Amino acid sequence: MTKPRLYSGMQPSADSLQAGNYIGALLQWRDMQSSYDAFFSVVDLHAITVAQDPAVLREKTRRTAAQYIAAGIEPSKSTLYVQSHVRAHAELAWILSTITGFGEANRMTQFKDKSSRFGADATSVGLFTYPVLMAADILLYQSELVPVGDDQKQHVELTRDLAERFNSRFGETFTVPTPVIQKETARIYDLQNPTSKMSKSAESDAGVLWLLDDPAKSAKKIMRAVTDTEGSVRFDRENKPGVSNLLTIYAALSGRQMESIEDEYAGRGYGDFKKGLAEVIVSEFGPVRDRANELLADPAELDRVLATNAAKADAVADATLADVYDRVGL
Ligand code: ADP
Ligand code: NA
Repeated sequence: MTKPRLYSGMQPSADSLQAGNYIGALLQWRDMQSSYDAFFSVVDLHAITVAQDPAVLREKTRRTAAQYIAAGIEPSKSTLYVQSHVRAHAELAWILSTITGFGEANRMTQFKDKSSRFGADATSVGLFTYPVLMAADILLYQSELVPVGDDQKQHVELTRDLAERFNSRFGETFTVPTPVIQKETARIYDLQNPTSKMSKSAESDAGVLWLLDDPAKSAKKIMRAVTDTEGSVRFDRENKPGVSNLLTIYAALSGRQMESIEDEYAGRGYGDFKKGLAEVIVSEFGPVRDRANELLADPAELDRVLATNAAKADAVADATLADVYDRVGL
């Protein structure tokens, strides 16, 4: 029996991934890779929609791939590859852009947010058509499921619309994908500002836990994390966002139920709780960091793995693209 196709990816936008990427994406991907025919991409073509230094970008791409593997994505089980290694992405994006309405693209809220921050001159046309490239990423592999954060849901909806439009205009070509929206329990917030999402691109890194950071540094960040004056370790997202966020991280990394953690720290202060969490982080991130560093110490071997996987991706993508060319009359 063939397994259903699954596609997801992340931008190589920092040297290290952060705890939210690990908990909200990598841990889910790792769990899904046995049940699905999964394609996990490092989306460097998306990264260049904002200015990048070429050498730095290449290094971040390699580091991001190493962290996928270190977190348990197995390149022999899943197809783990770099987006730009598969030329069909850019080619299909062009074709899809010709069936995308300007107004339709203009309704993407993520573009509105980003472009209003950058200003018109610093906003590239590539940033505007980013969701069309994302549609190409997904549709090339005939993906059935696409795990995403809720900020990407609108882009997957556009992908569905484009797939349906293409199919009705040119004949059945694409599988119409379904988004798998990340659970609230997998959403991690900034340690200093626990109502906004932890992000690689946060303005200050005081509230960001980096997967590859020195464990002592991460422990310090936990000890300084914002809490509240109540003094009790219990989950209440609305009134206790700081403590609730720490509990979410604790539960996700230890695999324990939230209630069992609340019980363990009942009647004890936040200091004890934070120390406990710091230990969990060190024991979970430590081996991931060591494995990533091992992989990065042998770049030739890592590049070989990525090339083998790109060839696997290429075969699937090329078949879809050939069909598309044929149907469109190219
Ligand atoms: P970042 O904001 O760190 O640049 P991206 O927007 O590139 O992250 O997202 C990459 C993946 O990581 C997506 O699957 C996204 O849902 C997940 N992710 C990012 N930040 C978080 C977070 N704070 N909590 C949970 N998941 C997250
Ligand atoms: Na980002």
